[in-house]
Amino acid sequence: MEMKQVIVTGGAGYIGSHTVVELHNAGFTPVILDNFINSDADVLKGIEEIIGYPPSFFEVDCTSIIQLREAFEKITAQGVVEGIIHFAAFKAVGESTEQPLKYYQNNLGSTTAILQVMQEHSIKNFVFSSSCTVYGQPNVIPVDESAPILEAESPYGFTKQACERMIMDVNGSAQPLNAILLRYFNPIGAHPSAAIGELPIGHPNNLIPYLTQAVAELREPLTVFGADYDTPDGTCIRDYIHVIDLANAHVAGLHWLSSQTEACEVFNLGTGNGTSVLEIIEAFERANGIAVPYKLGSRRPGDVTAIYADVTKAKNLLDWSCQFTIEDALRDAWRWQQKLGAA
Ligand code: NAD
Ligand code: UFG
Repeated sequence: MEMKQVIVTGGAGYIGSHTVVELHNAGFTPVILDNFINSDADVLKGIEEIIGYPPSFFEVDCTSIIQLREAFEKITAQGVVEGIIHFAAFKAVGESTEQPLKYYQNNLGSTTAILQVMQEHSIKNFVFSSSCTVYGQPNVIPVDESAPILEAESPYGFTKQACERMIMDVNGSAQPLNAILLRYFNPIGAHPSAAIGELPIGHPNNLIPYLTQAVAELREPLTVFGADYDTPDGTCIRDYIHVIDLANAHVAGLHWLSSQTEACEVFNLGTGNGTSVLEIIEAFERANGIAVPYKLGSRRPGDVTAIYADVTKAKNLLDWSCQFTIEDALRDAWRWQQKLGAA
């Protein structure tokens, strides 16, 4: 049978590694491009543990056209490339306000370079990792893809808006792409095998990595950032999606793209349900039978009160839906934390 390669930039990262596994499960041959700037080479061993062979890997800085060209020459010589999934980017909102150029250089630079080399090799299908951050605080929730894009609140958010625009511009050009822009809500959890998961480097800013480290007594008790919001229990509401469900949406997206020619569609990827911070704490305790040490604290600047996705478009067009519950995700997150180590 013909090998269908899929190039996965940032494939050693959190969402990328889970997507590599699901691509393999769906019969694709994933090819990882990563420079481990925010991941670890051991992730490749974790992927191998699950799929049974070492994944194809090229150590490449995706902002370097020269390095990309070298890798693409070798990959295209191996066989057909079905598409590219572009995860490689920096993602820390706070850091992006402190070091904006780092974000513009890497996030815009890698997207520009990958699109250029992709066109040189006439590869058509492109999947881009975007974020619900482009919506800011939406007026209507659940938020659908027609909601206005608000002025970005951080350089990180602006890089996602700019890359979306870049892809739309290329799609409207003389050499159009066939692309989907996936706006992720809040990915959480890990592979149930605990062979791969999220590797927070340093102090985790995101809720679930902080929560699991607090339960493992590696950190002070979790601070709930604000209990005076205009929500039923006063804490912020988000749409937390199991990372494997998110990974599978990429596979569904590639299948859909193969039936298209010059598409450029945006899809929200979430569960469609909102969960508050206190509900997450309760769900973790229910799923794992362990108490979460926490205290109520003040609001974190920049947090939106409530956002969750309308996922009708992805369900209908991509024929995709979530298989896992919040409890599943929190059980897997805790299993992964236990593997990483406790105090
Ligand atoms: P991650 O940091 O775990 O993974 C990113 C991977 O890309 C890392 O392995 C890193 O080493 C690699 N990388 C970065 N720059 C590179 C470069 N120039 N060349 C080669 N490799 C490079 O992040 P993630 O959580 O897996 O996020 C993946 C994508 O999804 C990012 O584009 C991120 O902005 C987007 N996203 C993430 C979230 C989230 O909550 N995790 C939410 C919305 C969107
Ligand atoms: N929270 C706490 N305590 C913590 C950490 C987080 O109460 O220690 C709360 C936050 O205030 C928020 C919720 O948990 O209400 C979720 O916070 P995260 O930092 O996990 O996620 P965000 O929704 O703030 O941001 C995430 C990504 C961003 C991305 C955004 C939209 O981290 O990169 O989703 O996609 F831009």
